[in-house]
Amino acid sequence: MTEISPLQKARASYSPKLPPILKKFGPFATAVSGAPTQSVADHEAIKTLFPDTYGVPAIEFKAGEKDKTTPIKVAVILSGGQAPGGHNVIAGLYDGLKALNPKNELFGFLGGPSGLIDNKYLVLTDDIINAYRNTGGFDMICSGRTKLETTEQFIKVSANCVKHGISAIVIIGGDDSNTNACTLAQYMLTAKTGIQVIGCPKTIDGDLKNKWIEVSFGFDTATKVYSELIGNIMRDSNSARKYWHFIKLMGRSASHIALECALKTHPTACLISEEIEAKKISLKQICTELTDLVVSRSDDDLHFGVVLIPEGLIEFIPEMKTLIAELNDMLTVEEKAFNALPTMSQKITFVADKLSEASANAFNSLPAEIQAQLLGDRDPHGNVQVSKIETEKLLIAMIQKQLADLETSEGKKVKFGTQAHFFGYEGRCAAPSNFDADYCYSLGFNASALIHAGKTGYMSSVRNISKSADQWIAGGIPLTMMMNIERRHNKDVPVIRKALVELDGKPFQEFAKNREKWSKGVDYVYPGPIQYFGPTEVCDLSTTTLQLEH
Ligand code: FBP
Repeated sequence: MTEISPLQKARASYSPKLPPILKKFGPFATAVSGAPTQSVADHEAIKTLFPDTYGVPAIEFKAGEKDKTTPIKVAVILSGGQAPGGHNVIAGLYDGLKALNPKNELFGFLGGPSGLIDNKYLVLTDDIINAYRNTGGFDMICSGRTKLETTEQFIKVSANCVKHGISAIVIIGGDDSNTNACTLAQYMLTAKTGIQVIGCPKTIDGDLKNKWIEVSFGFDTATKVYSELIGNIMRDSNSARKYWHFIKLMGRSASHIALECALKTHPTACLISEEIEAKKISLKQICTELTDLVVSRSDDDLHFGVVLIPEGLIEFIPEMKTLIAELNDMLTVEEKAFNALPTMSQKITFVADKLSEASANAFNSLPAEIQAQLLGDRDPHGNVQVSKIETEKLLIAMIQKQLADLETSEGKKVKFGTQAHFFGYEGRCAAPSNFDADYCYSLGFNASALIHAGKTGYMSSVRNISKSADQWIAGGIPLTMMMNIERRHNKDVPVIRKALVELDGKPFQEFAKNREKWSKGVDYVYPGPIQYFGPTEVCDLSTTTLQLEH
């Protein structure tokens, strides 16, 4: 690394807070077991698939005692999309391991799960770790989206670990990566390798959470960055008073990011995918409601507004959901014939001819650019990549059409200047907020305590995090506890249940209570940039979602 910014320099000396038990006893804290656990659903099926890790108790670290430990080697990988704080998880893990025994070694496998399979690694040193403390990004060891799920891969991983004398693997990832961590843990037990597997909850999307994992890391920082940008746009919009800004926000399926940003900034409108699905609202209805809003604000001489759109919206609109499911299946079956077609318009016709009547109608109602985006490359699971579908532009185009129809039918002319935005990558590698810096460091340090306690198939858990760090509770949650069976690509598979926005949950209720007020006049809130130094009520605040949920 060459030149670093003044902020980075100042942040390097920030000392992340730890839960009191880890502060006092370090990684030597004693694991106290609770009652036996069960999966969130499908108990018998999950038990059969994970016979050795099913039902094990959740644990909490209590008092402890320093003891002598023999040196160990541990592997760590970053898996999936970037999230602020990943480097601090590794730093916390490193410090915990060194506190257990200065001779312990941490191997950072490169580029995500593929590094572990292909034996590409870096032995992490003080110099490397110190250069990345409290920084954003995953560039210390990089990440990747290779799925670690086949027995063939597990055999390679196990062989690589044996070669280096590695006795524990820490997987820092989202719901899919932790599902795979659970399967890997079971494999290691069945194969009697003695290799432990520990997961850490990562994703800006905020959809890896439950009663025991209150939030995944990165959600706090990413939503703060997006809210700053939204606030800036709101001020611009309120100054120029000539644009409607349509802002799509990352977050994959769940609308947690959009909801959190709405609670922070009070937009003119914010769509919540889960509500649209529950109320079976069609694309046309969504646009009609937005058009009505544009018209009513225009009547009040307010020719501007800010609309937040969750990334996964399209998948939750009933007719689009069916269309996407048909497309996913068809493109898997017809892949060869489809790819052989030379032009996009031929591909569009080819597909439209094979869809059911309802889906063909939905497909044909879309602008050609959106049709092409729906036919774009699938992700490794064969799913459409929602981040590549320009829903913000689709909504603008459909509202423009409705306004044009209004002008034709009623002679009513409405000003509708627009700007489209997509915020996603802007927030994923930001320098972690104090909350994420502390939470991530604690998750990593806690993982070293779980390794010391001999646990496997557990997720590192730090709870009570809506309170100040001196009240945080450290422990571990069996990965099997979060699992259920879901149908994916015509197969029943065990997966960690994804957390979507709950319509009876407090964050949504708070939004629903206020949205009408926010849609009229100007009620914007401007959160400003993340503050790393200064009063605690400005610097250490966690998300509104977390505050409302706990
Ligand atoms: P993870 O679920 O792996 O944490 O990724 C989150 C995410 O940022 C989503 O919000 C987004 O849809 C996706 O990654 C984008 O993927 P990519 O980085 O491959 O473009």
